[in-house]
Amino acid sequence: MRTIRTAVIGCGDISVLHLDAIAQLPGVELVAVCDVDAERRERTTAEAGVPGTASLTETLERYSPDVVHLCTPHDQHADLAVEALAAGVEVLTEKPLASTLDDARRMVEAAAASGAPRIGVCFQNRYNATVQEAHRILEHGELGAPTGAVATVAWHRTPEYYLARPWRGTWAGSGGGLLINQAIHTLDLLQWLLGGVTAVTGTASTDSLGEVIEVEDTATVTLTHPSGIRSVLLATNGAPTNLPVQIDIQCEHGTLRIAQELTVLPAGGEQRVVTERAAPPSARSYWGASHAALIADFYAGHGSGQPFWISPAEASPALQILKAVYDGKRGFPRRPGAELDRDNPLLDPTAT
Ligand SMILES: NC(=O)c1ccc[n+]([C@@H]2O[C@H](COP(=O)([O-])OP(=O)(O)OC[C@H]3O[C@@H](n4cnc5c(N)ncnc54)[C@H](O)[C@@H]3O)[C@@H](O)[C@H]2O)c1
Repeated sequence: MRTIRTAVIGCGDISVLHLDAIAQLPGVELVAVCDVDAERRERTTAEAGVPGTASLTETLERYSPDVVHLCTPHDQHADLAVEALAAGVEVLTEKPLASTLDDARRMVEAAAASGAPRIGVCFQNRYNATVQEAHRILEHGELGAPTGAVATVAWHRTPEYYLARPWRGTWAGSGGGLLINQAIHTLDLLQWLLGGVTAVTGTASTDSLGEVIEVEDTATVTLTHPSGIRSVLLATNGAPTNLPVQIDIQCEHGTLRIAQELTVLPAGGEQRVVTERAAPPSARSYWGASHAALIADFYAGHGSGQPFWISPAEASPALQILKAVYDGKRGFPRRPGAELDRDNPLLDPTAT
């Protein structure tokens, strides 16, 4: 089988996990890395032993990759993805899909265009052993129908985290704060595990880090799911430490708790615990353990002509939910009953 030529665009923090995963994959060859920042580009070039470029365009022209990984800030995802897809190159982009809904829509359309190459979005926590098993239990109704859920994201982000990468604290660079950068994983899991979302209300505020960021660091989100049940997310980047994300799902005949482990507790039955795979040494604790699993799965379908299951359309609801909380005004006060636009194709993973 022909070697798959790949390039990583953006040599910052998360690129390390992508480079590690690529190095583990037989039949995949890293041919170039790219960064607009010369220092980061040169460091990664030296570490990975491949040439570096200063733009995606140069990468495509000089090194003809079959796949590019987008590990750039949020506002860069859409243009880079559209350019790569137009050049016939598969794309694996980091979350979020994009920093704005207009950019997200462009990516959904580019992915749906006739003959478009595959594009996947890195919601790696869907690959967690705990999450996979919870999804299976819910899908098969093993504990009866879910009746509600609560999730908490209590994480610690320092001023230095934002000062080191100013885009993270700005609306222009990031498209939001805690919700789009951190809690988006949990919003995605809630909507995926509970079968989609029909309405959202929420609040977002800057309570801890206002001296260094203009975006929110604290939020609550209440989701209504198609069955009529609700889930509630409580999230902050102002916690004193990084606690494990926790999702508690109540069902008719028992409970599921996803934390570091999955605890399955059937009513009147015996508790069962599912452990998580170990995270690679290069990962921060809060990145989870499943980048390599998602990346391997993405490459397993290379050239198949089949879309990757976490497509732009599939990744859109989480973005749409948090944008509903921001309420289009970047306003922090809640908008009670903010209804999602059900006709919006971004909300329907089956829409083309
Ligand atoms: N899936 C996860 O759990 C997870 C965890 C961390 C970060 N991320 C995501 O990864 C992405 C990058 O985050 P990070 O923390 O590594 O950021 P970072 O700032 O550390 O790295 C981004 C790099 O991209 C470079 N860059 C910017 N524009 C570019 C362009 N047009 N072409 C080439 N390079 C460009 C920057 O110079 C920088 O080196 C974000 O989308 C972030 O949300 C995902």
